[in-house]
Amino acid sequence: MKKIIKNGMIVTATDTYQADILIENEKVKAIGQGLSDVYAEVIDASGLYVFPGGIDPHTHMEMPFGGTVTKDDFETGTMAAAHGGTTTIIDFCLTEKGKTLKNALSTWHQKSKDKSVIDYGFHLQIVEANESVLEEIPVVIEEEGVTSFKVFMAYKNVLQADDETLYQTLTTAKKHGGLVMVHAENGDVIEHLTKEALRNGNTEPIYHALTRPPELEGEATGRAAKLTALADSQLYVVHVTCKEAVEQIAEARSKGFNVFGETCPQYLVLDQSYLDQPDFEGAKYVWSPPLRDKSNQEVFWNALKSGQLQTIGSDHCSFDFDGQKDLGKGDFTKIPNGGPFVEDRFSVLFSEGVKKGRISINQFVDMVSTQSAKLFGLFPRKGTIAPGADADIVLFDPNAERTISVDTHHLAVDYSALEGMKVTGEPVTVLSRGEYVVKDKEFVGKPGAGKFLKREKYNSDALQRQEETATGR
Ligand code: URP
Ligand code: ZN
Ligand code: ZN
Repeated sequence: MKKIIKNGMIVTATDTYQADILIENEKVKAIGQGLSDVYAEVIDASGLYVFPGGIDPHTHMEMPFGGTVTKDDFETGTMAAAHGGTTTIIDFCLTEKGKTLKNALSTWHQKSKDKSVIDYGFHLQIVEANESVLEEIPVVIEEEGVTSFKVFMAYKNVLQADDETLYQTLTTAKKHGGLVMVHAENGDVIEHLTKEALRNGNTEPIYHALTRPPELEGEATGRAAKLTALADSQLYVVHVTCKEAVEQIAEARSKGFNVFGETCPQYLVLDQSYLDQPDFEGAKYVWSPPLRDKSNQEVFWNALKSGQLQTIGSDHCSFDFDGQKDLGKGDFTKIPNGGPFVEDRFSVLFSEGVKKGRISINQFVDMVSTQSAKLFGLFPRKGTIAPGADADIVLFDPNAERTISVDTHHLAVDYSALEGMKVTGEPVTVLSRGEYVVKDKEFVGKPGAGKFLKREKYNSDALQRQEETATGR
């Protein structure tokens, strides 16, 4: 059914203005003053912001990891995401050595297709760059619309790839229009430090942070950036957590290299002291890279405001405290790494960023939606409100106050890492391609309604324009 959103304040990455939005056949059909259509349902958005749906470029739903499987699957995870104002996720599809990339994608399609309540895409892990994998990269770009590739520089003997793999992935991605993503930590040195800690009887959760110092994130980030420059390729650094890494990204960007960075809400509001709690409570805050000294938070706000970091991903990777995190009682290296953030990504950034005057409201939209759409081949279909775009829209009450808690969240996981945190601003109604997923804070969506998104190549529009200029068209 057609819909008209009236009286709301539309906010995109570039503009803030009052206008009506006509929605028809899943798309924004028109934007203007005094729109009317007798067949349309009218949604009154008085007093609300009207944002493009959030795009979370970093989730791990139903992912095998750390001897277990993440608690939220594509159903519970995307329901919670929708409540939080996110209408698209891009999830990490893990691959196995010796198996094809298409095989891994088919596993992820099975996990997601009848479950996701919002649209979704996949990034594909590259763990070894042998001939057949390198040959398959252009095939998945062209045929599957999977245009981003993740290389882990840490988790030795589990997910970690070597520098040869990273370099070959960068050169192949450059040639075929892919974007390479890295988890940037020096996994070899971390392996040494963790073994040493255990030998010394240091088994508590805090040692997770102490054995993964920021220097090792800075080193790996700088290495990945330099390999990107050498390959004349493009790089997106996921979950940046410290000044050392921000400096490497800023330096690469200042030299004109295509290096981009993401941080996550948890690094903006939590710090290393959370891991140092008694009774194994610290395990709730074990993820990688780890929480850092509080002084890094100011670095992030400045980097986000100045554009050195572009996006906010949740790195949602949830494990129950009881029955999953406790696999690491007596040995911090066995605590499954990850935390639950997909639901609160939007609100935390609005509350801590916009409400506290650290970023503008347009920058907020850019970070939670538009930049991810542009980098990951979804713009202008997603990431903005414009005629022709998918009608993924969030009506947001900027003054609603709420306390984050496991008692009220919509996730399956048994704790909230943000328990007790007060936030101002809350999604009220969320539309995915013009259909309600959340209406007046109630879930009304359908598992399986979300569609898999075949994405465009990295920067394909800009490449196209360059080509047109070069050929004089
Ligand atoms: O600890 C984390 N971040 N778990 C998810 C996997 C990853 O490194 O992104
Ligand atoms: Zn990671
Ligand atoms: Zn992650």
